[in-house]
Amino acid sequence: MKAVGLTEFGGPEVLHIVELPDPEAGPGQIRIRVHGAAVNPTDTQLRHGERAKRLRDVALPHVPGMEAAGVVDQIGEDVATKVSLGDHVMAIVLPLGPHGAYAERVVVPATSVVRRPEGATDVEAATLPMNGLTARMSLDVLAMEPGQTLAVTGAAGMVGGYVVQLAKVEGLRVLADASSGDVDLVKGLGADVVIARGDGYSERVRTVLPQGVDALVDAALMNESAVGAVRDGGRMVTLRGFDPGDVRGITCRPIFVRNYVGEQAKLNGLRQLAADGLVTLRVARTLPAERAAEAHGLLERGGIRGRLVLEF
Ligand SMILES: NC(=O)c1ccc[n+]([C@@H]2O[C@H](COP(=O)([O-])OP(=O)(O)OC[C@H]3O[C@@H](n4cnc5c(N)ncnc54)[C@H](OP(=O)(O)O)[C@@H]3O)[C@@H](O)[C@H]2O)c1
Repeated sequence: MKAVGLTEFGGPEVLHIVELPDPEAGPGQIRIRVHGAAVNPTDTQLRHGERAKRLRDVALPHVPGMEAAGVVDQIGEDVATKVSLGDHVMAIVLPLGPHGAYAERVVVPATSVVRRPEGATDVEAATLPMNGLTARMSLDVLAMEPGQTLAVTGAAGMVGGYVVQLAKVEGLRVLADASSGDVDLVKGLGADVVIARGDGYSERVRTVLPQGVDALVDAALMNESAVGAVRDGGRMVTLRGFDPGDVRGITCRPIFVRNYVGEQAKLNGLRQLAADGLVTLRVARTLPAERAAEAHGLLERGGIRGRLVLEF
């Protein structure tokens, strides 16, 4: 089968088409004929070599990709699942195993797979599993009460956008940041208050809420400079391991979506919200798999709204 892989770490140019044997679904696994694989910041980290330690025992080529959608084309033994051969499904994929989602076929645990949302194409569905579960996990660890205020940085981005939408479903008040060009987008996702992104962020939050927000999801990786937005004793979720330590009684929880790969019920919940129009699947552009390097270059330049999706 065709896949996009790399045999050395580096810039986008290290990505190239590779030929791999078709993977076989083992017990408890499902194989998907991938039609769309989303291109995420984590894929560029893998490509750069930031996961090199964990990939030490994985055979080359490394194949990135943490989410995909397509058609079930093989079901392993002992799979108690509601999907059948030929069903259109989406899945979260861990690229640190045999390979990631940038491939014509990918094998995943059955618990990582659900049907694609009704009304969505495979390309649209490919943008939901990994980023949606990250947003889900963020809100789960924050365990907020309806009416409390959540700040979301990077709200125009994929994780940030899903956090805004899930938070609104749960009755939270959302204070989001945006560049001037993204204000309508972020308001359209449901944010109650939109403030300008960038330098002085925490001070701007405090002009709206002098005591600070109850909690914050830092999808823009602002780290230290977002802590000031959180009230004393509040909570914060970070996405690349940042923890400020003991600051004004704030609880910081770095989260990792790999801990949600088996959360099929939560993925199903996201599927339903997308089908109901409460979560928006945003595709920036599709590119053929052969142009994966171009997709990585575009993502790294910034400014992409919605996800780039590789077609296989
Ligand atoms: N821990 C986990 O399990 C996990 C899971 C998923 C994602 N992540 C990480 O979470 C981060 C967000 O992912 P994503 O997919 O949402 O990325 P994304 O779609 O690129 O969104 C990030 C957003 O933040 C904006 N931004 C960048 N710098 C900013 C700043 N200083 N102030 C305000 N906004 C800023 C970006 O705008 P521009 O495009 O204009 O730069 C973009 O809109 C990534 O670092 C990703 O690796 C972690």
